[in-house]
Amino acid sequence: MHTASFSEQLSPLEWGPLSNARFLDLLAQFSNSKIAILVDENTHDYCLEYLITGFEALANAEVIMLPAGEENKVLEVCFQVWETLTEAGFGRHDLLLNLGGGVVTDLGGFVASVYKRGFSFVHIPTSLLGMVDAAVGGKTGIDLAGFKNQLGTFQEPLATFVDTGFLQTLPDAEWRNGFAELLKHALIADTALWTTLSKIKDIRQELTAGQIQRGLDIKREIVAQDPTERGLRKVLNFGHTIGHALESYYLHTETPLSHGHAVAIGMLLEAQLSVEQSTLSKTEFQSIEKYIKQTYQLQIPNNTEGLWALMQQDKKNANGEVRICLLAGIGNCLFDQKLTFEDFKHVLAPYIS
Ligand SMILES: NC(=O)c1ccc[n+]([C@@H]2O[C@H](COP(=O)([O-])OP(=O)(O)OC[C@H]3O[C@@H](n4cnc5c(N)ncnc54)[C@H](O)[C@@H]3O)[C@@H](O)[C@H]2O)c1
Repeated sequence: MHTASFSEQLSPLEWGPLSNARFLDLLAQFSNSKIAILVDENTHDYCLEYLITGFEALANAEVIMLPAGEENKVLEVCFQVWETLTEAGFGRHDLLLNLGGGVVTDLGGFVASVYKRGFSFVHIPTSLLGMVDAAVGGKTGIDLAGFKNQLGTFQEPLATFVDTGFLQTLPDAEWRNGFAELLKHALIADTALWTTLSKIKDIRQELTAGQIQRGLDIKREIVAQDPTERGLRKVLNFGHTIGHALESYYLHTETPLSHGHAVAIGMLLEAQLSVEQSTLSKTEFQSIEKYIKQTYQLQIPNNTEGLWALMQQDKKNANGEVRICLLAGIGNCLFDQKLTFEDFKHVLAPYIS
């Protein structure tokens, strides 16, 4: 069992099999309370049984199931969860366990952070993306009117339990999805991690628990220094300004892009912008370009104006300007960099025909 060392500022995070962690102790604190488990259709089928059969205190927990997928990270679904909690008589001293990927932890955290002005929730991420990113850092959120994470709160869970055993049932595409955020953590903060990750050909077979844990620790280190994203935490948005626009653009189409896939393409384009702004060398860019192209299929619409319009909604914008992150060499990142439409158009041009 490993407890990360930044837990003074952030809520506790435990690493390792749930059965060895202090999960049982936590449940004991809620022995006189109601407990709900939030799952989606897949974590209901693949992950829930382990919790219910492994922990007696959860045998009678209220199970609330969401439809799977980003398109369900919306207010209408929150209403249903709040109604279920209300009908079941949940109060401020009860507990919500969010068992799932980033959609479940983002939505579950949001639901819990405003229900009766907030009640306790615990994250148990089951996707790679959840483990290295979404379940860590205290951001909750849902999408609105097609825009990502328009509504949300900063609210740390009571605790987070990361058990990589859940990854066994994760589909290959979802490994690739989460891997993108791990690559991002390496690109913005850890050259050595980038060097090892960029040698990986088969993510499921070759990615080690140590690499996952390092990615998670990078995020915790950054969030601990700037929990509410006043400054440094913005580096975690590398690849996301363009990535979120791509993700939103394709959300309701026949070819939706997963969050990680969109971020991977966003990282490639934002790395290219870093070269144009002379903060990243061409050699370093080529290593990023080669690896991202070999791992992710590029999907970029021939609609630069449409993407730019979506980027106008980005939460990092300031003074009416689009702000992005640039790499200052692999392993370092600059935030709050101004992006003009002309520069955006220029960088996109070679990728659209
Ligand atoms: N709060 C944050 O700081 C933060 C950071 C990054 C991403 N996010 C959000 O996270 C979301 C993406 O997360 P995600 O990629 O985990 O999406 P997701 O929750 O939709 O999970 C991806 C898919 O994997 C399935 N799944 C999850 N665990 C499984 C398992 N163990 N076995 C089988 N199937 C499993 C899910 O049912 C889903 O179909 C986005 O909404 C994004 O905005 C939030």
